[in-house]
Amino acid sequence: MRVLTAGESHGPELTAIIEGMPAQLPLTAEMITTELARRQGGHGRGRRMQIEKDQVVISSGVRHGKTLGSPITLTVVNDDWKHWTSIMGIEPLGSDIRPEDIKRQITRPRPGHADLVGGIKFGHRDLRNVLERSSARETTMRVAAGAVAKQFLKELGIVTAAHVIEIGGITADPETITALSADQILARVEKDPVYCADPAVSPAMVEAIDDAKGRGDTLGGVVEVVIEGCPPGMGSYAQFDRKLDGRLAAAMMSINAFKGVEFGIGFEMAKRFGSEVHDEIAWSAERGYYRKTNRLGGLEGGMSTGMPIIIRGVMKPIPTLYKPLESVDIDTKEPFTATIERSDPCAVPAASVVAEHVIATELAKVIIEEFRSFEMEGLKQDVEQYRRYAKEF
Ligand SMILES: Cc1cc2nc3c(=O)[nH]c(=O)nc-3n(C[C@H](O)[C@H](O)[C@H](O)COP(=O)(O)O)c2cc1C
Repeated sequence: MRVLTAGESHGPELTAIIEGMPAQLPLTAEMITTELARRQGGHGRGRRMQIEKDQVVISSGVRHGKTLGSPITLTVVNDDWKHWTSIMGIEPLGSDIRPEDIKRQITRPRPGHADLVGGIKFGHRDLRNVLERSSARETTMRVAAGAVAKQFLKELGIVTAAHVIEIGGITADPETITALSADQILARVEKDPVYCADPAVSPAMVEAIDDAKGRGDTLGGVVEVVIEGCPPGMGSYAQFDRKLDGRLAAAMMSINAFKGVEFGIGFEMAKRFGSEVHDEIAWSAERGYYRKTNRLGGLEGGMSTGMPIIIRGVMKPIPTLYKPLESVDIDTKEPFTATIERSDPCAVPAASVVAEHVIATELAKVIIEEFRSFEMEGLKQDVEQYRRYAKEF
């Protein structure tokens, strides 16, 4: 399976094409739109999310509510486009317009964004040409494609759930959250303003976001994705680029503003003895092979163990500050405070939804590679047969 996304933040629309999704998967636009609404929510989101109420249109690859096995095209219209038709116009500008007449040109790159390096690389002197695509608006389509992947995984009994475990130094209680199943996490997160599964700390997270906003500043945090029901042996030890941990880490790191990844107890491993890290193996007729603990986060030797996969990503604070940082105007080379685009004080809750979906997409890709996967019924049977085999092995 492959996924491509396209579209500018203030362009007419955003698109994703998914190729290689098996046929006969039940799929409706509503299943995707529900997930898009989650991405748009969360305390700390600003005005852009009030302008856009993302609705997906499926324009290929699905007929009468089921996938066809042909490429699936998903589109989300940018409602804001109506205000940007001339600034972001597709057709060439008339010969009477000088470049400097184009409104909302950007010559002051924002620190922490793609603006400056993207401008140098692609030869754009109006840095809007970079910003429009590097914007996290693109994650709308990562979520749309991921919603299809999640639907696919659900059919195979695999659940992915994301939650926020830290914002601006305020952390969820590890004991509270490790006791929760993926379904319990999803149920709690649905009701929580910052998508945190620990209700004891979420008010403090809200307060921290409001405080940062009051200062014209921004906050980052940590999100966790839990995958339950993944059969053992997905990924491979036999070739480096097939290792599941490597692939999931790359997916997490591909999200805008994500700067680090860990599995299981993660960086804490550096402080412990081996006997306090590795998970002992056990077997029962009911569960088959399992680990007595899950400190390695469901991965050994680049493969899923069958235990829940636990992956965390750290998001840096949003780089666009209302208290802007110093930068240099690329026309005058004079120092300047950076241009303020519309921006949010904290997007960690929204980013947790993005994380859930990009991880689901990568896992769906791996499973589609591992099994005969032209249509769902055959695939489901193959997965079930493999699960039985692994249990008795
Ligand atoms: C869901 C989400 C929303 C974001 N919203 C904003 C935003 O409103 N303003 C902003 O400056 N950056 C925002 N970002 C972060 C930037 O997109 C990101 O920092 C930028 O593209 C540079 O990429 P890098 O941080 O990976 O180097 C957001 C990121 C995510 C995942």
